Amino acid sequence: MARVYPRAMATGTHNPIIAALDVPTAEQALTLAATLAPAVGAFKIGGELFTAAGPDIVRRVRDTGAAVFLDLKFHDIPNTVAKSVASALRLDVQMLTIHTSGGAEMMRAAEKSAVATAQQLGRPVPLVLGVTVLTSSDAATLAEIGCEPDPAGQVTRLARLAVSAGLRGLVCSPLEIVTLRGFLPAHVQLVTPGIRTGAEKADDQKRTLTPREAMAAGANWLVIGRPIYAAENPRAAAEKILASLG
Ligand code: C5P
Repeated sequence: MARVYPRAMATGTHNPIIAALDVPTAEQALTLAATLAPAVGAFKIGGELFTAAGPDIVRRVRDTGAAVFLDLKFHDIPNTVAKSVASALRLDVQMLTIHTSGGAEMMRAAEKSAVATAQQLGRPVPLVLGVTVLTSSDAATLAEIGCEPDPAGQVTRLARLAVSAGLRGLVCSPLEIVTLRGFLPAHVQLVTPGIRTGAEKADDQKRTLTPREAMAAGANWLVIGRPIYAAENPRAAAEKILASLG
């Protein structure tokens, strides 16, 4: 059987914190990554950093020893998404995102490419995560693009489609965790942003849970940006969050 990331979860040594490197330069990202690597389970590299710093930033962050979550939300024809996933794997990422609204064929192509490329490279299969409805979308946004104006219903529909297409993980908002856990197979991993400890100042995240609440609700991974990187002492903030998980 193919080895599947993350193996540490099976041994109980899993650190579920994914620190978002939402900074505009390689220099800032690497400083943050070096400080945080011992205290987090993975780093998330998104569109801002990747577009500014290029693929090399993935290799350099990976050099800290932490896992890398490449959050570029691929959405294209199946062949192009499959090739994009293969390119991401060659950079040695452990998690990456695709849009479930690209459809079942696109998702199957992504998962198949992840398995085949990992085998070629002799690495564990990364987690291909499906993004359902962006939390910035509401009923009006869905109506605008010709979907039923029912965000919760659309999340459920896309989550079911993703799992039937073979995806093993989804990104979801904190308030979707319990609903998704209610019908998804237990092996499906849930990755959740929108985490706040209560200590930081208010910002644009409206629907949040604490790290402990999100894990108790059934999340496997917590994507945490500002509560860590904007803290006075990012390393101490990450360690405090980890300790809060008990
Ligand atoms: O700073 P903060 O903790 O809000 O950062 C959360 C991270 O998760 C950001 O990188 C953001 O883009 C991402 N994210 C999110 N909400 C979603 C999907 C992704 O906040 N629904």
